[in-house]
Amino acid sequence: MRTMLFRGLGTLALGLGLVWLAPAPAAAEEPHPSADARGALSNVEGQNPTFTTHVAPIFQAKCETCHRPGSIAPMSLRTYAEVRPWARSIRERVQTRQMPPWHIDKTVGVQEFKNDRSLSDDEIATIVKWVDAGVPQGDPADMPPPKTWPDGQGWNYAKLYGEPDLIVRSTPWTQKAGANDTWWKPVVPSGVTEPQWVRAIEVRPGTVQGRTITHHANSDLLQDEPDELTQAGPGRFMEFAVGKEGEIMRPNSGKLMLPGSRIAWDIHYSASKEDITDFVEMAIWFYPQGQEPKYRQHLLRMGNTGDGAIDIPPNTVKATESFYPLRQAARIESFQPHMHLRGKAMSLEAILPSGQSVILSHVDNFTFNWHNAYVYADHAAPLLPKGTMLKITAWHDNTTANRNNPDPNVWVGYGDRTVDEMGHAWVNVTYLSDDEYLAEVEARRTQLSRATR
Ligand code: HEC
Repeated sequence: MRTMLFRGLGTLALGLGLVWLAPAPAAAEEPHPSADARGALSNVEGQNPTFTTHVAPIFQAKCETCHRPGSIAPMSLRTYAEVRPWARSIRERVQTRQMPPWHIDKTVGVQEFKNDRSLSDDEIATIVKWVDAGVPQGDPADMPPPKTWPDGQGWNYAKLYGEPDLIVRSTPWTQKAGANDTWWKPVVPSGVTEPQWVRAIEVRPGTVQGRTITHHANSDLLQDEPDELTQAGPGRFMEFAVGKEGEIMRPNSGKLMLPGSRIAWDIHYSASKEDITDFVEMAIWFYPQGQEPKYRQHLLRMGNTGDGAIDIPPNTVKATESFYPLRQAARIESFQPHMHLRGKAMSLEAILPSGQSVILSHVDNFTFNWHNAYVYADHAAPLLPKGTMLKITAWHDNTTANRNNPDPNVWVGYGDRTVDEMGHAWVNVTYLSDDEYLAEVEARRTQLSRATR
């Protein structure tokens, strides 16, 4: 099913001038199991997974970044003794694809991302089979060596670009012991005095203690924009989420910071057992003088905002559509849904000038707790012709089926508070001239034919 879908879409996409790269043939040949057939996958059949041989390597690779002492998750998952009491919950969370937090529908749209942290179907099958078999430990001698995690406060990209050119810090916040989750929104000057092209950004909690409570930190770049293409301002600048290294711009492209710009933070601090004071800091590396990139990335807010943008009756699942015209050809770099407690799903669809529409991405498992940005791989980022209409559909679940719903018996409208709703996407866009677009399509086509030959 998935193979056909991809093959079909790949060809259709090329025919329509919408391009991304289909998966390599080997991957495309694999059957895509339905959720309930996952346990019967061939390569786990006949094998009896144990913790030390099969499960521990998966946890090291996909869970420890958050599930270790001093990180954000509530429990550590490094040893058998630590994991054992959570087996049931682990089975449930991985099978429903709530953990690791990566909530893209794997059956539709682009599937290649720079920051994919999801489990493969095989990995899910292995974990489920292992729990169902009674959580066998296996031979302790088979345990992989413990993974070491950097505990220093060095910047990841310093090894590539040296020390950052600019560091912007949020105003400190003290999260009191026992206080509820807090959303802290200070606005601070960037300190930039002349236009600068950004090549890489990294965001992290300012203190080691702060890592245990900083659930995520979004930041918007506020500045006066002469550029009329930027219909909604320069938009979301960078987001920090646990386990994320940072972001390097695609080759020959960058974000532009202007003098007088400010950084507007939106930081989610989770509850803490002790008083913790923290700030979040953002390191920025600029392109050197004379090496300015050709393309500018805009992080745009797509979707209706303001009074009347959202109108959800009580006890109802509601779909809200909104549209965003591309006045120039564009490459879509990333997609990040933004909704509140009733958010359920969001899709990003391209309606091409021919009238045909293609789903680029669908987040079918949205959770307010996790604001994931899905960053398309370099060779998979959709290329769209001028005149394409992007369509965002946001689904909100205002029924009792939604465990996060504070009250299914009220009408819900657009608003800033967590109990109000939003339904827009942050979409990172690089605009291209028609000639640049054709050249990019040609390059992608060459890549595609090489990959599938
Ligand atoms: C990006 C960070 C991150 C990654 C990666 C991650 N987790 Fe989590 N996990 C969390 C956080 C934070 C929570 C608590 C909040 C929540 O449930 O969303 C959590 C909760 C859980 C829970 C629920 C605990 C309970 O209270 O019942 C389970 C089970 C779990 N994770 C298992 C896993 C497994 C297994 C993996 C790897 C396959 C994994 N997680 C990867 C951050 C992460």
